[in-house]
Amino acid sequence: MLATTDLWFRYQDEQVLKGLTLDFSAHAVTGLVGANGCGKSTLFMNLSGLLRPQRGAVLWQGKPLDYGRRGLLALRQRVATLFQDPDRQIFYTDIDSDIAFSLRNLGVAEAEIARRVEEALTLVDAHAFRHRPIQCLSHGQKKRVALAGALVLQAEYLLLDEPTAGLDPAGRAQMIEIIRRIVAQGNHVVISSHDIDLIYEVSDTVYVLGHGEVLAHGEPGAVFARSELIADAGLTQPWLVKLHAQAGLPLCKTEDEFFQRMRREARKERS
Ligand SMILES: Nc1ncnc2c1ncn2[C@@H]1O[C@H](COP(=O)(O)OP(=O)(O)O)[C@@H](O)[C@H]1O
Ligand SMILES: [Mg+2]
Repeated sequence: MLATTDLWFRYQDEQVLKGLTLDFSAHAVTGLVGANGCGKSTLFMNLSGLLRPQRGAVLWQGKPLDYGRRGLLALRQRVATLFQDPDRQIFYTDIDSDIAFSLRNLGVAEAEIARRVEEALTLVDAHAFRHRPIQCLSHGQKKRVALAGALVLQAEYLLLDEPTAGLDPAGRAQMIEIIRRIVAQGNHVVISSHDIDLIYEVSDTVYVLGHGEVLAHGEPGAVFARSELIADAGLTQPWLVKLHAQAGLPLCKTEDEFFQRMRREARKERS
């Protein structure tokens, strides 16, 4: 179980997180939304033990995080993070070594490493640039490499901080696919994104953050229906929610579902 309890974090001169109590284990996919600068990335760094709260705690399996070397190593095998800035987690110049890095550290057999690296490269669609030096890749490509490095761990929790920033629409669709696969394997995802439509589509529960606090929490359809709250948080409603709230159309979770229902209604009207 991964959670936080009354977590407070400040950089030298700025109190960023103010008493966050969050549970990431209750649902398969937890979405985090909030305006730029509200502290999402700071929260992810707290969750992975890179930053340490001044008050409150990150809870892993019901206990406060163990910040010792061994404790963090154990955590990071089971909680893998894709940070917002891929340069933060890319250490090698060649992609294969970079992706295999954490597995080598853990002493996984080379044959198994090769198998998992291959699978991760396919999932993130990185075969085309696999042999290029990492420093020559675009931001989006680096992001895919960093994601592959997180996926090979097959962790119980995958934390994705702005995973689609810098990706094209195909990359975005792949991200949705990857999230679905991880969930199908019984694992959890925590995702933050500027892309409110993406969060709405993939999340089973959402937290709306503002000024370091939880402004709202619950089922995405219900939370995003609160137009004033969403505007106060500096966000806009997902378009599928807008169609429902402002045009009275059925509330659907995905674009596909929406168009299917529209076609069905149209057929009904014609007959
Ligand atoms: N290393 C840092 N030192 C000082 N302040 C920081 C640092 N990183 C982020 N901040 C500040 O903390 C706040 C939250 O930032 P961040 O967690 O990146 O928000 P978000 O990911 O939601 O955009 C911002 O005001 C930002 O300027
Ligand atoms: Mg951020």
